Amino acid sequence: MSLHSLFDPVTIGSIALRNRMVMSPMTRSRASKNGVPSPLAIDYYRQRSHAGLIITEGTSPSPDGDGYPRVPGIYTQEQIKAWQKITAAVHENGGKIFLQIMHVGRVAHPLNKSANAQTVAPSAIKVEGEMYTDENGLQPMPTPDALTANEILKVIEEYKQATINAFVAEFDGVEFHAASGYLPMQFLSSNSNLRTDNYGGSVTNRIRFAVEALEAMISVKGSGVVGLRIWPGLTFNDMFDANPVETYTELLKAIDPMKLAYVHSSRSPDPSINVFKLVRENFQGISIVNGGFNFQTAQEILRSNQADLVAFATSYLANPDLIERFKRNAPLNEPDKNTFYTPGEKGYTDYPLLRE
Ligand SMILES: Cc1cc2nc3c(=O)[nH]c(=O)nc-3n(C[C@H](O)[C@H](O)[C@H](O)COP(=O)(O)O)c2cc1C
Repeated sequence: MSLHSLFDPVTIGSIALRNRMVMSPMTRSRASKNGVPSPLAIDYYRQRSHAGLIITEGTSPSPDGDGYPRVPGIYTQEQIKAWQKITAAVHENGGKIFLQIMHVGRVAHPLNKSANAQTVAPSAIKVEGEMYTDENGLQPMPTPDALTANEILKVIEEYKQATINAFVAEFDGVEFHAASGYLPMQFLSSNSNLRTDNYGGSVTNRIRFAVEALEAMISVKGSGVVGLRIWPGLTFNDMFDANPVETYTELLKAIDPMKLAYVHSSRSPDPSINVFKLVRENFQGISIVNGGFNFQTAQEILRSNQADLVAFATSYLANPDLIERFKRNAPLNEPDKNTFYTPGEKGYTDYPLLRE
């Protein structure tokens, strides 16, 4: 029986963290048109560097992996140099920071990516929804091109190169984003993956892309600096899996021997699926949990040993000094939804600290 608190140190993979509070990844759409993180992002992450671990906003490994406006990348020298300033600011304050690598696959609009980039997915099935573009407002998402077997290997290589680039930018580690309906989840889910080759059909085939991408990322600097994010049962971005418990049980069993730094999971919208239990039962490493936690419920889940760390998204967005507020039992600032994805410092770097 564990009796840990959010304020206790912990080691994940090969990295010692000073507490068990994680800043959950959040797209903030403040990068340049070319996917270069803005100078404001240095302040934004520095302000939140007292978290035991920061996981950055989803960041594209390649031009094909882009899809939303103003989302950063990690595939050009300019992007890498800009990230370097962010990791330096976090490290100066004694914090640790992982880069979340996010290839959105079919959740994309061509106006949000470079002219020669492709929009790809396991199968040529489009998302029935609209995507915001700076040029033309909301636009329907186009039908993606189904990846060929050779192209799949190329995408896996992109995850490897992005991992190499992340270490050039001096990140402490990388997180493989296999949630939220993006490319890896498009492979995992039965409704978006109708392939008949080794990457589709049976569960073993549908998890293959995630397993091979993780192997490629691990080949760069070992498994202790690579984390995995999952969200079983999520229906966002037209996801539907006929049997998420089976799919994620098999995925977790397959990756367990890899000895990843952690698995980061979120509560399923389907109340019959207990994601955190599923992770504990099938994965022996560190479990980071997320989804609607406050100080009290976070402490409870750690003390009952159902998780090792807790990730907070919206409360970190609105409270740069979240740890101090938790320690003093102080009230929290409310997040302003209107400025989640708008350019500039409003709703980004201007949330007040307790002492202000
Ligand atoms: C503005 C915003 C952007 C987000 N972007 C990402 C993202 O880039 N990658 C990701 O894995 N999750 C993303 N999420 C999901 C959060 O990490 C988290 O799972 C969710 O907000 C629930 O946590 P909470 O209840 O603590 O806010 C985002 C959430 C918000 C509110």
